[in-house]
Amino acid sequence: MATTTLISSHVLIISSLFFLISFLQLNGAHELKVCGFQAIYAFGDSLTDTGNAMFLTYPYGMTNPNQTGRASDGLLIVDYIAQSAGLPLLNPSGDKNATFQSGADFAYSGITVLNDKFHNKSNIFRGYVPDFNLQSEIKAFKTHLKSFCKNPKTLECKKKMESSLFFLWMGINDYNYAIADGGIEAIPYLKTIEQAKKLKLVPTVVKHIIRALKKLMSYGATQVLVLGLPPYGCSPYFLTPQSKNSSAVYDEHQCLKDYNDYLMYHNIYLQEALGSLQNENPNANIVYGDTYKAMRTILAEHTKYGIEMLSQACCGVGGKYHFTGNITKLCGRPDVPFCSDPSKHIFFDHLHFTQNMNEKMAGLLIQDILPKLKCNATGKR
Ligand SMILES: *[C@@H]1O[C@H](CO)[C@@H](O)[C@H](O)[C@H]1NC(C)=O
Ligand SMILES: *[C@@H]1O[C@H](CO)[C@@H](O)[C@H](O)[C@H]1NC(C)=O
Ligand SMILES: *[C@@H]1O[C@H](CO)[C@@H](O)[C@H](O)[C@H]1NC(C)=O
Ligand SMILES: *[C@@H]1O[C@H](CO)[C@@H](O)[C@H](O)[C@H]1NC(C)=O
Ligand SMILES: *[C@@H]1O[C@H](CO)[C@@H](O)[C@H](O)[C@H]1NC(C)=O
Ligand SMILES: *[C@@H]1O[C@H](CO)[C@@H](O)[C@H](O)[C@H]1NC(C)=O
Repeated sequence: MATTTLISSHVLIISSLFFLISFLQLNGAHELKVCGFQAIYAFGDSLTDTGNAMFLTYPYGMTNPNQTGRASDGLLIVDYIAQSAGLPLLNPSGDKNATFQSGADFAYSGITVLNDKFHNKSNIFRGYVPDFNLQSEIKAFKTHLKSFCKNPKTLECKKKMESSLFFLWMGINDYNYAIADGGIEAIPYLKTIEQAKKLKLVPTVVKHIIRALKKLMSYGATQVLVLGLPPYGCSPYFLTPQSKNSSAVYDEHQCLKDYNDYLMYHNIYLQEALGSLQNENPNANIVYGDTYKAMRTILAEHTKYGIEMLSQACCGVGGKYHFTGNITKLCGRPDVPFCSDPSKHIFFDHLHFTQNMNEKMAGLLIQDILPKLKCNATGKR
């Protein structure tokens, strides 16, 4: 009897704790609401594309079949940011039926910050996608802007721009194509990290990101969130080709140290440039989102997040990482297997995160950026 009471009171405490935690999490799901953002405009690549490129087939979307066109089993980080802000998920800018009341997503899978003029000059092979880059996305936004702001000088337009969040997450493809082709294209002129440094790849990528932000700010953007790059030296795409390299150096999470250090160099360079941009524009609020730190936190405490597989893709085939570089065996191709529970993996395919990973990273990012966005309960900044 006494034991039963003890157990039931424990159950009670545990379930009320559970209730409290779920309540906090639920509450936490709308943390960015205090910022009162009326719209979000997103720029990026497949990590942010909510349906512009639309070439991915099942099992992409397997966890969240209503959300098609995303390079994941479900939602992306930008989706969780939108949800947290109390806004609907972003329509891809190419959606002919959307009204774009609460923003638009200009991200397009496969694209880079830099243009083909740079790629050709530097002898970088950029896959088989057309020359579409960050600058093209900014141009597309400019055209879009005209559809709701005939005259950007009017108070109404100014207000709309000031109450919008501008989200930019890009750069990983610039490095993918230059230094880690994943063995897919077997490119003879793939660069080593040392060669990429000689080409000033990081300063050039960052310079073009800053140029794009300045353009957006010249149109009236004041609330800007720029994400850094996560440690992709932990991805199947980087790990598989290096598994043949006997002198490759791995860190404590079995990720490639050199690649992660190089991406960190990008992040530091980017943060410095964003700092200068902020100083030049005291009326704007330019926030850096540290995806590198968020992913390191999840790697270190992965069990807490329900994650068991750190570098093995859920969807794909071959070797330790479920990725070989054989283009006929990529996720989404016929007969390519996929796991039954993507939430246990960080990577859904060789390059893209699972919905669970995106949700957990977004949660950590939101905690981190909320104070920096300087929002307060009145929804004013
Ligand atoms: C997908 O949409 C249908 C119809 O609106 C809905 O019943 C279902 O719950 C949705 N599924 C998910 C996973 O959101
Ligand atoms: C737009 O709406 C039409 C008519 O309802 C529909 O047939 C079409 O599939 C929609 N297009 C998109 C991109 O949702
Ligand atoms: C880059 O090189 C490719 C292949 O040689 C060529 O088709 C393309 O026009 C070049 N682009 C630029 C911008 O020079
Ligand atoms: C092999 O790994 C070493 C140490 O990280 C690196 O310096 C070298 O460039 C790698 N070789 C190739 C072919 O990638
Ligand atoms: C890729 O896989 C296909 C289908 O199994 C096979 O025919 C082809 O030889 C493979 N290519 C390479 C480069 O291993
Ligand atoms: C909240 O925003 C309002 C309007 O900008 C400002 O007057 C007030 O000082 C802010 N409060 C805090 C605690 O930052």
